[in-house]
Amino acid sequence: MDYLETAIDLSRAAGDILNYYAGREKLVEFKGHANLVTIADKKSEELIIGGILSRYPSHSILAEESGAKQPGASVKWIIDPLDGTTNFAHGYPFYCVSIAVEEGGEVVCGVVYDPVREEMFSAARGSGAFCNGERLRVSEVDRLSRALLITGFPYNFRERLETVVSQFRKFLVASQAVRRGGAAALDLCYVAAGRLDGFWELYLQPWDTAAGHIILEEAGGRVTDFRGEAFSVYMKEILASNGLVHDEMAALLADQDQNTGPTQ
Ligand code: IPD
Ligand code: CA
Ligand code: CA
Repeated sequence: MDYLETAIDLSRAAGDILNYYAGREKLVEFKGHANLVTIADKKSEELIIGGILSRYPSHSILAEESGAKQPGASVKWIIDPLDGTTNFAHGYPFYCVSIAVEEGGEVVCGVVYDPVREEMFSAARGSGAFCNGERLRVSEVDRLSRALLITGFPYNFRERLETVVSQFRKFLVASQAVRRGGAAALDLCYVAAGRLDGFWELYLQPWDTAAGHIILEEAGGRVTDFRGEAFSVYMKEILASNGLVHDEMAALLADQDQNTGPTQ
């Protein structure tokens, strides 16, 4: 069984766990003021890591709730067991499981599974992106003024309130409309599927973007930092689009580049 198949199998099984807890007591705990974790995050992560290590005992793991395991192996699995925990905790049906595989420092495949709509987004480098077997292709919207954008607000937004609000204000004025989804991995997949045209966010973590960004690139999209330079999942800023509105978005962000502070 190859990595992508393993990720598909495990994300579907993890999605069943999220569905199970969706209608039950979620035992919400606070990791920060607005940063939640539930029993579903933990059970989902346990299942995914157990499944990976039973097949590939020497691989590295980087997972949101339990951190890094066996660092240093050439293959690393990057896992968000529940992206969109705040939505999930409130019963707002927009969340997913995200699993990516990094080999020799490059993300080589990724899966994002939405258990509410039963949509399995997947991609392997060089082989295209798919949703439930259908090939994905980004939109053809080529002007920011016609674009439907999406963004997210980081948990530490209070520390960067001016920057976050000022970026939001600029895009609101320059685009057709802006949405706020609450699950970065799904936001990226929706750009890949042509449902949205662009996405930007500050202070995301590798598990938020690893799978979604390869799915978007394989659907013909473009993913960079705010300056339009090469993206890495270890950066704390992401600009992602159908490619056609990318430069306009980067130009708008460049306006206040000096305010965003260093990536960390
Ligand atoms: C969060 C979501 C959200 C984004 C936050 C992330 P979590 O992940 O992706 O859309 O705005 O910055 O931390 O905590 O629900 O896995
Ligand atoms: Ca996340
Ligand atoms: Ca999470």
